[in-house]
Amino acid sequence: MSDFDRYAIKGGLSGRARLTLLTRIFTPSTSRLLDEAGVPPGAACLDAGCGGGDVARDLAVRAGPGGRVVGIDLDRAKLAVARKEAEAAGLAIEYRTGDILDPLGEPFDVIYMRFLLSHLRTPATALAHAAEALRPGGAIILEDVDFSGHFSYPDSPALRRYVDLYTATVAGRGGDANIGPRLPSLLAAAGFNDIRVNVVCLAATDDKLKLLNPVTMEAIADAVVADGLAPVDEVRRLIDDLYEEAHDPGTLTSLTRVVQCWARRPDDLI
Ligand SMILES: C[S@@+](CC[C@H](N)C(=O)[O-])C[C@H]1O[C@@H](n2cnc3c(N)ncnc32)[C@H](O)[C@@H]1O
Repeated sequence: MSDFDRYAIKGGLSGRARLTLLTRIFTPSTSRLLDEAGVPPGAACLDAGCGGGDVARDLAVRAGPGGRVVGIDLDRAKLAVARKEAEAAGLAIEYRTGDILDPLGEPFDVIYMRFLLSHLRTPATALAHAAEALRPGGAIILEDVDFSGHFSYPDSPALRRYVDLYTATVAGRGGDANIGPRLPSLLAAAGFNDIRVNVVCLAATDDKLKLLNPVTMEAIADAVVADGLAPVDEVRRLIDDLYEEAHDPGTLTSLTRVVQCWARRPDDLI
């Protein structure tokens, strides 16, 4: 199975539509993270596993005309949309088809990864490549999931089943849907210092936010069935139940807990 086929979430244009919803929801917390970690004007930035390029565009605005932004992803269809959107916004972003498990081969001042490491068989390899490519003092900025952090009130068996299926599907394909709390130790092992952490767990009663759960369940449905984790009938019922709960204002439901972690490459990293 190639890395692209191993990815548990449906890619291409429907994958890009899910990322549009995800970005609308997470833009405020991602912006606060980028403010805090710092993206200096003129910086050379990489958005690794950039998907539709939503954060790459934010990085390009922050780095300004003297900066440079590269977005790398395995999914050509998402990159094609990202190129058009960057062009329409008048932003010069270079999108490349590539695997983050390959060496980067050029220097950066800022490397950002959102919801990428949880899908990788060897996240430490991606961080080693980032450490190699960052200039001394450069920033690594990570956001990733801790799926065990979902909650709802009243308790929802459908939400618990979705969390279990997502976690098992990602694990079966070599990833870790609970990687979030491991990010600081992964960064320390890769030689980074000045490691900082913040945790975000969004929850709401309205469907604008809660819809991400059924939409994600739909996006992993093919993988769940292909991997033999649940029969197609159960998956269909589960998606219906999650939509019903998303539209029910009497239910408080969270999304995944997200761990944000940022650090610096020391001057003397070998
Ligand atoms: C959950 S999406 C997140 C996209 C984007 N970072 C965001 O937050 O909007 C994960 C992305 O990582 C990409 N991906 C998965 N494995 C990859 C790899 N080994 N190298 C590069 N991209 C990868 C997928 O194609 C997908 O677009």
